[in-house]
Amino acid sequence: MANNNSDSGGSREINALWGGRFTEGPNALMEAINASIPFDQRLFAQDIAGSKAHAAMLVAQGILTAEDGASIAQGLDTILQEIESGQFNFQTALEDIHMNVESRLRELIGDAAGRLHTARSRNDQVATDLRLWVRETMDGADTALQGLQAALLDQAEAHADAIMPGFTHLQAAQPVTFGHHMLAYVEMFGRDRGRLADARVRLNESPLGAGALAGTSFPIDRVVTAKALGFDHPMANSLDAVSARDFALEFLSAAAICATHLSRLAEELVVWSSAQFRFVSMSDAFSTGSSMLPQKKNPDAAELVRAKSGRIIGALTGLAIVMKGLPLAYSKDMQEDKEPVFDAADSLALCVAAMTGMIGQMTVNRDKLRAAASQGFTNATDLADWLVRELDLPFRDAHHVTGALVRLAEDRGCGLDDLSLADMQTVEPRITEAVFAALDLDYSVASRNSFGGTAPDNVREAAVSARERYL
Ligand code: ARG
Repeated sequence: MANNNSDSGGSREINALWGGRFTEGPNALMEAINASIPFDQRLFAQDIAGSKAHAAMLVAQGILTAEDGASIAQGLDTILQEIESGQFNFQTALEDIHMNVESRLRELIGDAAGRLHTARSRNDQVATDLRLWVRETMDGADTALQGLQAALLDQAEAHADAIMPGFTHLQAAQPVTFGHHMLAYVEMFGRDRGRLADARVRLNESPLGAGALAGTSFPIDRVVTAKALGFDHPMANSLDAVSARDFALEFLSAAAICATHLSRLAEELVVWSSAQFRFVSMSDAFSTGSSMLPQKKNPDAAELVRAKSGRIIGALTGLAIVMKGLPLAYSKDMQEDKEPVFDAADSLALCVAAMTGMIGQMTVNRDKLRAAASQGFTNATDLADWLVRELDLPFRDAHHVTGALVRLAEDRGCGLDDLSLADMQTVEPRITEAVFAALDLDYSVASRNSFGGTAPDNVREAAVSARERYL
C-alpha cells in the first residue's frame, strides 16, 4: 500500500463521517497508515451484532423511533449478508469496519443510519467487537484442544503398557509407558483450556455504552446491550472500558503458553520419528519428501508447529509493548491490537489441528520403544530400590552399589540384568537371585503405581479420569 507520491501530498476526499471540521482530505500516506479495514474487516459479524444490540436498546429507551430502529436492523442484516457472500465493497477511505458498515447503511436506508451512532463511539464499539471476537476464538480453541486431548487419549489407551525409556536431560532415566507420556500432554492441554476459560470469565463484560471515554448523557441501558451480546454485565468504568486490552493480552498469554506445549510435543515427534529413534512413524499425510534426498520423509508439520510458537509468543510480546505506557483512555496505538490477535489465533488453530492429525495418525513402534528402554541402564533405580527393600541398605549406599554394578555392566558391554549373580556378588555379596525379577522392565513399570505414576494400570485409570474431566 506504500504510495510513490509520498511527497506530492496526493490528498483524498474529506471523510464524510468525521470530516466536519476539516477543509482538506487526508494525505495518501495518512490514509495508508490510518486504515485498519484490510484486517479489521474480520470483525464484521461482531460489529453488526453490536450495532443491532445498540439500536434495539436505543429504541427500547425511546432514544430512537421504532421505525428508524427497524430500518437500521434491516439494513444491518442486508450488510451482513452482503459481506458474507463476498459482495461488499470495503473501502480504505472509510478507514475501518465500523465506518464501512455505517457508510453502507446510509446508502441502504438513508438518514436514519446517522442515528445509529447516538450514544456510542468507535472506541466502545471496537472494544466490544474485539471482545466478542476473542471470546468466540477462545471457545473455538477450547473445542480444538479438546479434540487434541481425545487423540492423545486414544494413543494413551492403545499404548498404556508400551514400555519406553523416560528421559531426563534427554538421557535415558527410567522406563515409563508410552501411554503415560501421552497423558502428560493431556494434562498440559487441559491447563491451557483452563487458562482460556479463566481469561474468558474476565473478558466477558461489556464495554458498549462507555462512549468515547466518559459515558453518555443519553438514558441508555448498558445492562440490556450487555445481555444481548452474551456478556455477564457492563464494565464498571467507562475509561477502563475503552482502554482495556488485557483481555487480548490474556488470550495471547494463554495462546503463547499453549504454543510452548505444542512445540514441546512437536519436538518430541521430530526426535522420535528420526532414523536414530524410530519410536513413532509419522503418517505420509503429515510428512513431506525432499527434492534431493529420495529416502527422506520429513516431519515438516511438526517442525512448523515447533516454529509457530515463536510467532504466537511474538504476538504477545508485540501487543504488550504496544500497550505499555499508554495513557488513558483510547489511543490509536490500540488499533495495533488486532493483527497480533488474529495472527496468533490463526496460528494456534492451525497448530492444534495439525497436531491432532499427527497424533491421531502416527504409528507407535512398540518394539523400538522397548528396545530403547532396555538400553542405558534404565532399571538402575529398580536395582537400588531392591537393595533398599530387601537388604535394608540406606538409599545412598544402595545408590553407590548400583553405580559400581553399572560400571561393571558397562565394562562387559551388557545390561544390568545380563550380569551373573556371581558378578553381582563381587560388589555386594548379599544380593540373591531374586534381584533379577526386579530388573525386568515390565515389573519396573508395573511397580511404579503411586498416584500419577507410570504403571499401565495407573495409566488406564488416569485415562478414564481424564476422559471424564476433559471430554
Ligand atoms: N479502527 C479503530 C481501532 O481499531 C477504531 C476506533 C477508532 N477510534 C478513534 N477514536 N479514532 O482502534
